[in-house]
Amino acid sequence: MAGYGALSDVYEWVIPDGMLTPADSVAAFGDLVKALPPGARVLDCACGTGQLAVGLAGLGLHVVATDASAGMVRRTDQLAAAHRVSVRTLPASWEELPDHLEVATFDMVFCVGNSLHHAEGTSGRLAALAAMARLLGRGGRLVLTSRTWELVRGNGSRIDVRDQLVRRGGRDAVVVYHWQIAERWDQQHHLDIAVAQLGAHGSVTTCSERLSCWPFRHEELLSQLQRVGLTVETTTFDPAAEGYLVVAVKEHVQGGCAP
Ligand SMILES: C[S@@+](CC[C@H](N)C(=O)[O-])C[C@H]1O[C@@H](n2cnc3c(N)ncnc32)[C@H](O)[C@@H]1O
Repeated sequence: MAGYGALSDVYEWVIPDGMLTPADSVAAFGDLVKALPPGARVLDCACGTGQLAVGLAGLGLHVVATDASAGMVRRTDQLAAAHRVSVRTLPASWEELPDHLEVATFDMVFCVGNSLHHAEGTSGRLAALAAMARLLGRGGRLVLTSRTWELVRGNGSRIDVRDQLVRRGGRDAVVVYHWQIAERWDQQHHLDIAVAQLGAHGSVTTCSERLSCWPFRHEELLSQLQRVGLTVETTTFDPAAEGYLVVAVKEHVQGGCAP
C-alpha cells in the first residue's frame, strides 16, 4: 500500500525549503540533467507534487510523471497547468509501469526524494527496480536518492518535531515525524507524518498519515541494481551523511535478470 492519500493535500509543508520550486528541484540534479540531449525522454516515477517533473518539462524535455498516489498525480497535473508546461501523468505503482509505458525508451528515470523504501520488502524493491530498468533505453540512467537507513535504524524509534514553523502559502504549520523502527531490517517499519496547520484565533488543523517503509542497506541497493542489469556509475554514500544519491546506467540490453 503506497499511502500519500491524505498527505498529498499538505505535502508542501514536508518538502524542504530548497526543493519547493520546479527550478530548485531541477537544480538539485543539475549536472545530470545538463548531460541529457535536447528533447530527451525523462520519467519521474515517484513524482509527488510534481516539482521535479514540471521543472524538467520547463527545460523542453519530454516528461512522464507517475506516482502510486492519485492525489499526488492530481497535484502534479495542477502544478504543470499552473506553469503552462506539458507533463504526461499516470497513477501507477512502479511494477506496473512497463504495462503502461514504452519500455527501453527513457533516457533518464528519477526515483528520488526518499521514495524507494516504500516498495514492499526485498522482492517488492527488486520488482520496482526491474521495472525502472526495463523502461530505460541503452545508455539511459536511473537516478535514485535514499535516506541512509543505516543511520535511521541506528537512531531507533523516535519522535522528531521540527523546531521551526514551516510557512507555505502564507500559512504556518508544525511538522512531526514519528519513526517506528522494527527489530529487524526486513520487517515493515512505519513513519507517521503529521502536519498541524495553525489558523486564525489559535485554531489547529492536523492532517496525518501512517506510511509503511521497508529499509535497505546501501550495499543491498547496489547489488539489486546489478541484478536488474544496471551498472552503478556514481554513489555519494557516506555512512555518516543523512542521505545519498546513486546513478546507475543501462549499458547492455537486459536479458533474464529481472525477477
Ligand atoms: C517521500 S515522497 C517523494 C515525492 C517526490 N519524489 C519528492 O521528492 O518530493 C514518496 C513518493 O513515492 C510514492 N510512492 C510510494 N510507493 C510507491 C509505489 N509503489 N509506486 C510508485 N510511487 C510510490 C508516494 O506516493 C510519494 O509521492
